[in-house]
Amino acid sequence: MLLAREAERLEAFAQEIGAEAEPCDVGDRIRVEEVAARVGERHEAIHLLVNNAGIAAGGGFLDVAPERIEQVIRTNYLGSVWCLRAFLPLLRRGAPSDVVNIASVAGAVVGPKSGPYSASKHAQLAFSRGLASELEGTGVRVHAVNPGPVPTPGFPQERAQAGRLTRRLVVQADDVARAVLRAVEHDRRETFIPWPFRIAAAAQGLAPGSLSRLTARLRRHR
Ligand SMILES: NC(=O)c1ccc[n+]([C@@H]2O[C@H](COP(=O)([O-])OP(=O)(O)OC[C@H]3O[C@@H](n4cnc5c(N)ncnc54)[C@H](OP(=O)(O)O)[C@@H]3O)[C@@H](O)[C@H]2O)c1
Repeated sequence: MLLAREAERLEAFAQEIGAEAEPCDVGDRIRVEEVAARVGERHEAIHLLVNNAGIAAGGGFLDVAPERIEQVIRTNYLGSVWCLRAFLPLLRRGAPSDVVNIASVAGAVVGPKSGPYSASKHAQLAFSRGLASELEGTGVRVHAVNPGPVPTPGFPQERAQAGRLTRRLVVQADDVARAVLRAVEHDRRETFIPWPFRIAAAAQGLAPGSLSRLTARLRRHR
């Protein structure tokens, strides 16, 4: 079952892989609830929900339009919340079942000029961590997968691919898909891909001030 906004592309892809398509903006709570009700009429239960929909903000808090900041929060954070709430009855019926939230390294560390996106991913990661505790013992397991740079249509990651150091940290969409499967198979609560980003997340926790000054310096040198 695939959800995305662009109906034509979605339906063509669903046909290619033998899936069902439900065009939907995940930031629109009412539409998500309608889709979940329709899915419930066709399927008794679901075993896996992947909250993957996400958009870039395209700049810092002072660069982008206020409407874009709202859209980023609605899609990246609230989209996961609305999908989880709407599909939870089907996930409970399918238990043991899994929820995978595709958050980001930006959910743990704030990069230069990525404040609005990072704030949405911090919220999504907090949602994932809180939800994992809320659903403990219910048979619905919750996992967060935090990718670093992955070249995709929405996030071309040209700068990361060009940098001498950063290009070593670039992974492909297939690597993220494998990380999702591993997270589910081994019941991993939180995965960083590639793993060295876990060190950056630890540095954020241990020395937030130093990390903030370092990222500001990196931004000035760009
Ligand atoms: N690529 C990276 O470097 C990177 C790194 C860390 C985390 N991530 C996260 O990984 C996830 C996937 O991103 P991607 O890199 O694959 O980006 P992408 O190529 O732009 O794909 C994003 C997907 O989300 C869908 N989408 C966007 N807004 C939506 C909405 N409101 N409702 C329903 N579907 C929506 C898009 O389809 P429609 O446009 O048709 O709706 C598209 O299928 C995102 O959550 C992103 O934040 C990406």
